[in-house]
Parts: sequence; C-alpha cells; structure tokens
Amino acid sequence: MSNYIINTTKKYIENYNKSIAEPEKFWSDLAKNNFSWYERWSKVLEWDFKKAKIEWFKHAKLNITVNCIDRHAKSNPKRTAIIFEPNNSNEKQKSFTYLELLKEVSKTANILKTMGVKKGDRVCIYLPMIPELAFSVLACARIGAIHSVVFAGFSSEALATRINDCESNVIITSDGSFRGDKIINLKSIVDNAISRCSSPQKVLLIKRTNQKVNIIPKRDILYDEIKSKVSDECKPEIMDAEDPLFILYTSGSTGKPKGMVHTCAGYMVYASYTFKNIFQYETNDIYWCTADIGWITGHSYIIYGPLCNGATTLMFEGIPSYPNYSRFWQIIEKYKVNQFYTAPTAIRAIAKQGNKFLNGYDLTSLKVLGTVGEPINIEAWDWYYKNVGNSRCPIVDTWWQTETGGIMISSIPNVIPDKPTFATKPFLGIQPIILSESGDEIFEYEKVGKLCISFPWPSMARTIWGDHNRYINTYYSTFKNKYFTGDGAYKDKLGNIRITGRVDDVVIVSGHNLGTAPIEDAINEHNLVAESAIVGYPHEIKGNALYGFITLNTENFDENILMKQINEIISKRIGPIAKLQKIQFTKALPKTRSGKIMRRILRKVAARDIGDLGDISTLLNPNVVKEIIANSQ
Ligand code: WT7
Repeated sequence: MSNYIINTTKKYIENYNKSIAEPEKFWSDLAKNNFSWYERWSKVLEWDFKKAKIEWFKHAKLNITVNCIDRHAKSNPKRTAIIFEPNNSNEKQKSFTYLELLKEVSKTANILKTMGVKKGDRVCIYLPMIPELAFSVLACARIGAIHSVVFAGFSSEALATRINDCESNVIITSDGSFRGDKIINLKSIVDNAISRCSSPQKVLLIKRTNQKVNIIPKRDILYDEIKSKVSDECKPEIMDAEDPLFILYTSGSTGKPKGMVHTCAGYMVYASYTFKNIFQYETNDIYWCTADIGWITGHSYIIYGPLCNGATTLMFEGIPSYPNYSRFWQIIEKYKVNQFYTAPTAIRAIAKQGNKFLNGYDLTSLKVLGTVGEPINIEAWDWYYKNVGNSRCPIVDTWWQTETGGIMISSIPNVIPDKPTFATKPFLGIQPIILSESGDEIFEYEKVGKLCISFPWPSMARTIWGDHNRYINTYYSTFKNKYFTGDGAYKDKLGNIRITGRVDDVVIVSGHNLGTAPIEDAINEHNLVAESAIVGYPHEIKGNALYGFITLNTENFDENILMKQINEIISKRIGPIAKLQKIQFTKALPKTRSGKIMRRILRKVAARDIGDLGDISTLLNPNVVKEIIANSQ
C-alpha cells in the first residue's frame, strides 16, 4: 500500500527516484498491492521504441470493471459512485451507488450481448453526458468489447469516418441531447452517418429528450424496452493485460483522425494512481471534472480513474452558461464539491462575465482546483486562484494527451508546489526531456525545445488502430528512442516545466485538439477554392482560434456568401468546433521553391506579429507576403 499514496514532498522524491531507478519493481509493487487480478504478469515491461512496441504487465489477467465497480460494490455497496446533474437545473438529479452501478452496467452489458457483441468487437458510443454513457463505456469493458466514444458534437460525416475506420457494427446513441436551451437530434445524425457506413449497423437507442425519432425495426433496439428483459448480473470477461480497452480518435497533422488504442492493465494502473494523488482524493470527497466523456479527460478522470479508487464522480450534462454563468458555482455549492477540474477556456469565458455570477455562492468545500487541455494564461490562473479558490486551493495544471492516457506533468497539492502557468514536475515514472532541433538535450533554463518522453509509462497508447506505421512515424521517428509529444516546453531554474504549445500543425481551440489538414481538406472541396492554409492565432477566450488563408479559382465571388459556405462545409465534415474565426481571401499563398506553404509566415500574420518574419529568402513569391499583410484582419 505504501507507495500508492503520495502526500508529502519526501514521499514524492523518494518514490520518483525509485520509479526511475527500478521502474519494473516500482510498477510491479504498485500493481500487485492495489488492484484485483485473476492472474499476475510474467513480465512487467517489454519495450522497443524503434518498433513502437510497448507491453506492460505481460500475460496478466484482469477486468477493469471489477476494479472500478465490483470490489467497491462489495465493500461499500451504498457509497455513491456517480452523481448525475442534468442540463436543466429544474430537472431532478440522479445518483447511483456502487451496487446500483454494478447492476446498470451488467444490464447494459447483457443488452450488448443480445445484440451479438463479443470480446474484441468495436462498439461506437455517440451519447450526451447522461449516466447511460458511463454505463455503456463500462458495459463494453465488462464484456471485453472495445469502446470508441465519439464526442456528440461531431458531425455525421466525422462519426461515419470513425465508425468505418474501426469497423464497428454497433452504435449506442440517444434520441437527442440537451445543451443549454438547445435540443440536438442525435438520432438523425446517427441515421445519416449510417448511410455512409460500409458495413451493417445496429443501433441501441436510449431515450433522453423524448422527441419523436425515426425508428428502423430490427436495426434499432430500444434500450428501455430491452432493459427489463435482461439480467442485472453479468460475469466479467477475463481480459489479457494488453487486450485493447478502447479506441479514442484524435486529430493529427494529416487528414485522417488517429484511432489511439489503449489497453487494459497499464491504463488502469496509471489512470487510477494519477487520479488518487494529483487530486489528493480522500474517501467521501465529491470530485467533479467538467470534461465530456467524448475526450480522454472524461475517460480517465470521470470514469476509470475515480471509479477505480471508489470515488464519487459527478457527471454534468450541461454547459457553463446555462441558465446563466453561475451554473458551475451553483453545482459546486449544491454538492459541496471538493475537487474541481476544468479547462482554461471555460475559466476565461466565465471570468469575462465578471464576478457577479460568482458572488454569493459558497465554494468553501473546494480543496483542489485543476486545469487541462491547453496552456493557461496568467490572468485566467489568477482569476481562478483568487475567486474560485479564494486564494486557498492549490491549482494542478495537468499536462497530458489522448496518447498518454493519463496526466504526465503536474503539481501535486501539498507535495509539489504549483507555479502559475507551469505544469511543473513529472508524475512518478515519467521521464520528460526537452530536445533541440538536432536532438540534443537542452539544459539551459527558459530555452524552448521539443518535449519528449524517454521511457515508457503504463498508460501510453500502444498503436493507432489499423496503422502501426503511422504510430511509429508520428511519435517515434522525430527523435531516436524517444516519444515525441508535439509540444514545445522549457524549464525554469527549479526544473519546473512550462508547456509553450504545439509545434506541429495541430491547433488547440477551446481545449479541442484540431488538425489543420482535415479542415483544409474540407474547405478545398468547395468548387471555388483553389487552395487553403489554416493556422491558429491567440484568442482571448478560446486560447487559439482558426484563421484561414484561402485562394480561389475565380475573381467573381461574394465574400460573405463564400465565408458562410466555407464554415458550413467545415461544420458538416468535422463539426462546428472547427469553424474558422477569420477568413482572408488572397491571390496566392507564400510558398517555398519546393512548393511547400510557409505556414510560419501565415502564423505571424494571423497573430499580428509581423515585426520580424524571419528568413523569407527561400520564398518563391515574396510579393505575396506584402499583399497578405496589407489585407490581413
Ligand atoms: C494537447 C493534447 C489531455 C487531455 C485533454 C487534451 C495540450 C493539454 C495541457 C496543459 C498546456 C496542454 C498540449 C497537448 N495540453 N494539457 N496543462 N498545458 N497544454 O488532450 O486533445 O489529446 O490534446 O493538449 O498541446 O499536446 P488532447
């Protein structure tokens, strides 16, 4: 038990050193003593970064849902596992004890079985933030099916791309979703997606909004009807440590989304261990993460991490601004939330409304605040610290990625001090290294380099579904024997790490990871568009926003109509989150002699930072730059 809880600086230092000196022993002790296994491993770790081969707890047998549910349902059946707070504050909330959760998950698992789902099959989940989303995820894990949750803000085309990529045949969805004062018809989005699917599909339909939807007999199964016909007991499937647990898509520098594959044992151990310590979760605390389960944050820190620790985790269906900007604070007061984990973009949006929405709410239950998803600026950090935490609560600025499965760099309350805008120190077992362009370690303070990780950790993604070569090329080929994160970073004198942002063609907009390539592909479909380049630029609320430089194959066009059409295409192909904030039509794009668009220049123009454009001597068409600057927005 001893190294599971890290609550002093001394313990952190001692255990961190152990985790680096003898990683296998460290993780083996931890896994042995804190989780439930059918069989132990024959080898703790086998790895080769050159081939991107990573195996943890080899040959061990387990089921993650036994660790997340059964053992707590046995020891603390009445403890609340999930609190569900609906979109509308007038609707009654719901809670599920660990025993109730076990029954709900077992029923959903049995429903999936009756639909023919077996171990290893992929199940796509496209749901709002309702309890059935958690049940569905865990039901898949119960029977060894691989869940692929798709954020329910993605368009039908984006959904179809993901269904086709992992060749799933079952989709769990709902009639609709409530988002603020809007109702979104999810079922019709799914129907539309299915018309683009190459393989036959079955739909498990959950009722949420009660709107009338189109039902296709035999293909669509009604959850409410079938639920009363199945048993509330379901034996867990015995899984191998390295069997896939889930696929989660993330955008990359090229068109197609990457289906990151996470496996059972390593993911469980790491998500659980980081949750317990980074949030300093204590028994009976109420923990709330505002992310959507459609993202990795929701997977690891709403479902698996908290439940594995027997925690009480709050799921919120709605948005921070409905019915008004007090919603978060009202929920914290209502449930006496102890740990609150959200995104900088939400903090900025709320802070902008002024403190009147915060005044009068009792937030004294809060012990720890967290942020995730993008760098937090000092103004947002200060506001969060002073107004939400009343200058009393440490802030954990947690850096990690879909690919890493769990938090990699973060302070730990009362263990590793926080420092505004710095993620600070590596978690146990994590070996970050900052490299120069040529691959040498940067030792100088405050010099930005590329952030890599030089040793495997248990929850790292194992591959990209169906494309292991892309996995190798994306993460292990930039620097020899290192995992390359795609982020820039530097260290201060005390070794605190600060993330400076992406160094590739991924832009983080409102905490969402967006590749520019798929957006460009979408725009280029418009018959008047010749070419486009999308870059990110700093935005007050969203962190970054998208700026599109677009060349047309005509001089006859209506700018306003075209802008509208371009954003409509993006919404349709990807989703509204990928819409462009600014569009500039330009005669040409700056290109090198080899024909490559010089995005560096466009980034500077978009950021209004044109004092020094750097070396533009290799440009084929330097005059274009003047025109672009003159017409920039
Ligand atoms: C990218 C990963 C990790 C869950 C949510 C995002 C950026 C993430 C931080 C942070 C600065 C951060 C990085 C990273 N990022 N957390 N605390 N400070 N940047 O997961 O969608 O896979 O995006 O988000 O650029 O590479 P994701």
